[in-house]
Amino acid sequence: MVASPKHFLDISRAAAEELHRILQAAHEMKAARSGRPQGFIEPDRPLENRILAMIFEKPSTRTRVSFDVAMRQMGGQSMLLSGNDLQLGRGETVADTARVLSRFVDAIMIRTFEQSKLTELAEFATVPVINGLTDATHPCQVMADVMTLQEKKGDLSNLTVAWSGDSNNVTNSWMHAAGCFGFDLRIASPEPLQPASEILDWCKQNNANVTVTEDPQAAVAGADCVVADVWLSIHEEGQGTKHNLLKPYQVNSALMAVAKPDAVFMHCLPAHRGEEVTADVIDGPQSVVFDEAENRLHVQKAILAWCLSGIL
Ligand code: CP
Ligand code: NVA
Repeated sequence: MVASPKHFLDISRAAAEELHRILQAAHEMKAARSGRPQGFIEPDRPLENRILAMIFEKPSTRTRVSFDVAMRQMGGQSMLLSGNDLQLGRGETVADTARVLSRFVDAIMIRTFEQSKLTELAEFATVPVINGLTDATHPCQVMADVMTLQEKKGDLSNLTVAWSGDSNNVTNSWMHAAGCFGFDLRIASPEPLQPASEILDWCKQNNANVTVTEDPQAAVAGADCVVADVWLSIHEEGQGTKHNLLKPYQVNSALMAVAKPDAVFMHCLPAHRGEEVTADVIDGPQSVVFDEAENRLHVQKAILAWCLSGIL
């Protein structure tokens, strides 16, 4: 019997010990590259002769560049496939796309809209599938965020992370991470934009310490980390505005002042200065947003090694 591929679809779908192993490897890979040029190919070439197909049905800067560089640094190659240029964009089924790509490449990373497209791709692919963001979740981002939190704060179990703004795909992956890594997560969102009942149920079933409030000050009070994201995600563009509802949730210096004095500020980027976060916060001394962006590379190398090479 052929073993099923090791997909990386969501933080909630991997065992906590596997996620810890991935993070440990990411820290080691980062340390091992210190002082090397970005194009330095690691001598052991763990992904030599491997090809990653990257399907993008939405725009991206960080995800596309970090996955491509990850493959190159590990001795492999990647190819960029825009959704509109594939027959997928003209109605070829996800299942057939999965079966065909599996005959050509060793792994598939996809950024798409509905979560069901990701899961269907994984169902029919015979190679690993990685979630590069859907409308519902963004697990690679939050793995990089958790890695960054470990770098800045060490042990996660006594930490409180506060989210202020729209409850979106990134929030959902933070909720999964709270369940797997044991930190407390407080989410402040206006009532109509709070997390869906399904994911709140998941939190209950998985003992994730997640609380939801309409009060941003209450969420952020004494927090170790404050997180924001855009008020309108890519899949919501052109669907009106939530700005009036979200204005009180802006992360500004007054809100940061109620967090711990050494709290860090996180944002997955891209950011809209003056909307979800003020420039003085995102460009200020508590901001770790570019460490988060860099850690996409290191954590995705570990994810690729876990999915592909059997070395993790
Ligand atoms: N944070 C993130 O995923 O960025 P991109 O949309 O640029 O890939
Ligand atoms: N919530 C954002 C994240 C972008 C990386 C979006 O989906 O557009």
